Amino acid sequence: MFDLPDSEILSTALEHNFWTWSAQAKVAPIPVTHAKGVYFWDVNGKRYLDFNSMTMCVNIGHGDERVINAIIEQAKTLPYAAPGMATKPRAILGKLLSEITPGNLDHFMFTLGGAEANENAVKLARGYTGKHKILSRYRSYHGASAGAMALTGDPRRIPWEPNLMPGVVHFLDPYRYRSTFHRTNPGISEADFTQDYLNHLEEIIQYEGPETIAAILLESVTGTNGIIIPPEGYLQGVREFCDKYHILLIADEVMSGFGRTGKWFAVDNWNVVPDLMTMAKGLTSAYAPLGAVAMKPEIAAAFNEIVYQGGLTYTAHPISLAAAIANIRVIQEDHIVEHTHIMGPVLHRMLTDLGELHPSIGEVRSIGLFGIIELVRNRKTKEPMTPWNSNSPEMTKLRKELLDQGLFIYSHWHTLLIIPPLIITEEQLAEGFTILDKALSITDKTATKK
Ligand SMILES: Cc1ncc(COP(=O)(O)O)c(C=O)c1O
Repeated sequence: MFDLPDSEILSTALEHNFWTWSAQAKVAPIPVTHAKGVYFWDVNGKRYLDFNSMTMCVNIGHGDERVINAIIEQAKTLPYAAPGMATKPRAILGKLLSEITPGNLDHFMFTLGGAEANENAVKLARGYTGKHKILSRYRSYHGASAGAMALTGDPRRIPWEPNLMPGVVHFLDPYRYRSTFHRTNPGISEADFTQDYLNHLEEIIQYEGPETIAAILLESVTGTNGIIIPPEGYLQGVREFCDKYHILLIADEVMSGFGRTGKWFAVDNWNVVPDLMTMAKGLTSAYAPLGAVAMKPEIAAAFNEIVYQGGLTYTAHPISLAAAIANIRVIQEDHIVEHTHIMGPVLHRMLTDLGELHPSIGEVRSIGLFGIIELVRNRKTKEPMTPWNSNSPEMTKLRKELLDQGLFIYSHWHTLLIIPPLIITEEQLAEGFTILDKALSITDKTATKK
């Protein structure tokens, strides 16, 4: 189709591309050619097992003909329409999403990705409430545009401060393994642990002034910042604060949505209905770029007479919407949410077994097919294998070994994340765990010396 031999992909791409999240002189991209199911291949024919769904997004797996054909059909019929126009995929997708999203979320604004979805959710919350501040958590990532970076709590925002969106206040996450409040009381009951973190949040709401806070925005289950699964009662408690103080709850389900946790959306695990919910990634399983903001009818109605000042040339792009419809139908037809629900305990057992074998594993956590391994130098002190926001020779070596062995996995500082396509089988998961088991001897060497 394109006139460039496979052997020249890497060199030509390096010559003419600027790479995100990278020091340009240090990039080492995989020259990928094709992908199918849970695998992809590079120009040398090397096969990789995809334990990260590329960018935590190819939920239904690679190369599904049903989605590809839907894209082709849409491209032939109507590849683009202006944002103000009604199209068939726009009509169908809105209806389909209203059937699978929680509670009475029934209006959808379409963007191109997660960051834009969060930016628009904030605008809607500010417009609807007439208030300005947004509370979000330190261990969070909400996107790389200026507003989304301000919302992000992790260090990715820091190089760009202070020129980001004003009005964001961060608070702490209920992160039990490294809980600030419970270093001397690690055995605290789940109920008391939850209450302590709710008290912390309520104190911040009071200090900031509820009359100034438009929304609390959080990842329902934290993604790259540690697969932090909210303890029982936490999300329900946040919902109660939002009701009590007339604050909107925005759930960022960009990574945790579309089956990832074994439910359609992570909030469904706790029966919490947010006022606004953002999504992207698994919405199309990345077959085409798309994000969305789901909103309650009263929020949409607040703009009945007032113009919503916001939009994008590619709002509701028909090709992306067609991909989303086909993707959701694949999830439904192949019972992928149910499969993930069944595979959740399988992944959890594999993680727990691995943790018992390796002294460098401090803790494992997972929900559905959303898992993490925390690597430590010392299980007692929990000293991470890599200091905060940094790197270590052991982690560099481990990452290289995993890739050499054909396991594509995301590593954040001292953690390894396990976020495979949701169609993965037990045998394919075990294939990845065999590679992990061998490679972890690298970090075990450091951990056992202590
Ligand atoms: C939880 C969360 N929110 C938002 C985003 C931003 O999405 P995008 O990269 O599509 O802008 C991401 C991306 O990784 C994410 O994980």
